[in-house]
Amino acid sequence: MIVGNWKMNQSLASIERFMTALAPALDANIATAWIAPQAIHLPVLLAYRQRWPKQLRVGAQNCASALSGAHTGEISPEALKELGVDFVIIGHSERRTLYGETDALLHEKVQMALGQGLTPIFCVGETQAEREAGQTMDVVERQVRHGLKNLQDEQWAQMVIAYEPVWAIGTGLTASAEQASEVHQYLRGLLRSFCPAQAEKIPLLYGGSVKPENLEELLKATDIDGALVGGASLKALDFAELLKISSCQA
Ligand code: PGA
Repeated sequence: MIVGNWKMNQSLASIERFMTALAPALDANIATAWIAPQAIHLPVLLAYRQRWPKQLRVGAQNCASALSGAHTGEISPEALKELGVDFVIIGHSERRTLYGETDALLHEKVQMALGQGLTPIFCVGETQAEREAGQTMDVVERQVRHGLKNLQDEQWAQMVIAYEPVWAIGTGLTASAEQASEVHQYLRGLLRSFCPAQAEKIPLLYGGSVKPENLEELLKATDIDGALVGGASLKALDFAELLKISSCQA
């Protein structure tokens, strides 16, 4: 599973160029491309999904913790569903740090997204200081315990979790496959205790400076089921290459 997080990038013109360049990979049906554009560009991507209904999944980068009401500037999960959006990234480290999103708020967002039948991609990860202090597993455990508390079995079955060490996001520093896999195996162990029936099926994505040169090694490692990709997802040929590499590992 390869998810492109475009963050606050792309224009109408650059999306058109991107999709033209990605078209051969989508036509060849090598793997499903999950793409999260800025909210304002969702309808544009959804129009492309009509052309590639099997090969393209379209998602938001955030949603509100309420369905409607006095929340100026927020994105309603109900409106996302109505538009036909497939998934929503929740708890990205940029949301946590730049916009002060707490574990408690993220728990509400996850519940709202699940209630609308959207697939949440729930992000967790430690900072450099937390890693150096030996707190990585404590941090990701706390984020999962709080953010995903009290989920029913059928809700767990809708979840995707992304491990994104904050120090590796947009920095060019990738966690080694061993470092990433260690955390992924820990997360898998947690899931076995929370939802034994679903634990093995929940995709665990790695994110943080993923590119064509390092994806294969990451995907070969235990419990890494895919990638959440920022920078490299903005280049169509790199993104197509990531899809190709993932299909070879499937
Ligand atoms: P990056 O971003 O691939 O540019 O490091 C990953 C992310 O923020 O999801």
